[in-house]
Amino acid sequence: MRGVFNLAKMGFEKISRMEIHSLVTEGKKRLSWAESNMPVLASIRQRFENEKPLQGINIGVALHLEKKTGILLRTLVAGGAHLSAASCNPLTTDDSIAGALAEEMDVFAWANQTEAEYYNCLESVIASKPQITIDDGCDLIYLLHTKHAEALDNVIGGCEETTTGILRLEAMHSDGVLKVPVMAVNNAHSKYLFDNRYGTGQSVIEGILSATNTLIAGKTVVVVGYGWCGRGIANRLKGLGAKVIVIESATTNKGSSSGYHRALEASYDGCWVMSMKDAASHGDIFITATGNKHVISGEHFSQMKDGAVLANSGHFNHEIDLDALESKSESKETILTNVEKYAMKNGKNIILLAQGRLVNLAQPTGQGHPIEIMDGSFGVQALCVEYLAKRGDDLKSGVYNVPIEIDNDVARIALESQGIILDKPTDEQEKYTKTWKEGT
Ligand code: NAI
Repeated sequence: MRGVFNLAKMGFEKISRMEIHSLVTEGKKRLSWAESNMPVLASIRQRFENEKPLQGINIGVALHLEKKTGILLRTLVAGGAHLSAASCNPLTTDDSIAGALAEEMDVFAWANQTEAEYYNCLESVIASKPQITIDDGCDLIYLLHTKHAEALDNVIGGCEETTTGILRLEAMHSDGVLKVPVMAVNNAHSKYLFDNRYGTGQSVIEGILSATNTLIAGKTVVVVGYGWCGRGIANRLKGLGAKVIVIESATTNKGSSSGYHRALEASYDGCWVMSMKDAASHGDIFITATGNKHVISGEHFSQMKDGAVLANSGHFNHEIDLDALESKSESKETILTNVEKYAMKNGKNIILLAQGRLVNLAQPTGQGHPIEIMDGSFGVQALCVEYLAKRGDDLKSGVYNVPIEIDNDVARIALESQGIILDKPTDEQEKYTKTWKEGT
């Protein structure tokens, strides 16, 4: 009965019990398939079942609710936690997964929500009095700080999944408003080196292809941003036969390579590098991956070819200036699921995918990152939640790097699951790498 109750709360009261049954059955199959390909979480879950490190802890979640996320949530429940979960984006919930998970935990999410529904669902998670939060994009923590400061007293700490979320948290911390410790899961090597690069690289292309069913080979694709996601996308596109143009920004980032370095890297990787203004008239497909705002804007739309396709892979739907696109258009029409045609006043058409939201996750054409990739990222999440449960009370507010032991453990388990065992350094090598005396 618990599942049906939750499904009603999720807005499924309008569909029959039969339809709910088949939705939930499909969700369970998808969860089983994901589970069978997630060895890192399987190993953590086995330990959690024995040790119950999260016994009785309320965890509030705002993550893209699809099958891989479901396995993370099950792992946390196995550790003894009570879970309340919403999505971190109005378009990205897989209803079958939300339905199946609602039998096991409180779920407040469904596909294609309005902005108001999306925020109501986050409010429902906050009403569960979370002690640990898991965010992808920082919306839950932000809402806690701006509208529910009283609920922060319960919060031991949080975990943040993505680059944009970390940037928001760092800004909150430097403005002195962040009141809890948050683990920067995104910044673990086991996360960004694989998830942002290989995960986004593959799934963004998959999302574009499954929405449009068009060819990549021979096309000119403009990738905006050559960070971890942009590198992954651009290099996979080259493998599929695209001519790739990269756009970077003249930025001087603190603590990581700057836009200048990334542009140079793109050039050495064999991409053309130019300004957006110069690239606008060349691209057949444009993909934004910057975490920044309006990187494709009014003047660019006017220069684009008839039929140019726009897709976004950055966290928020403002990388493409949608208001400017609307104002330069006479009409728009949904021509396929997640495909809208804008008839421009200059007589040309522009095709926008997934309303400018994450093209690799927008349901039903985006399946998100490959399962094995999310196994690593969510392995880091599960271990960081355990770390907060054990150590969170000792931590001051701030943004924390993932402990190196957790980061190494996840990579080691992932390697072992592929049957790869690394050579251990010999005593002689250990000694040699620590000495400064021996030369030549
Ligand atoms: P990053 O910080 O490594 O790279 C962003 C790059 O964009 C930087 O090189 C920066 O110089 C460049 N950039 C910024 N403003 C620009 C502009 N106006 N024009 C051209 N380039 C510009 O970030 P990362 O990890 O690649 O993430 C990018 C975005 O993707 C973030 O919003 C992140 O949250 C999101 N993300 C999305 C995923 C997905 O599944 N679609 C997965 C992981 C991250």
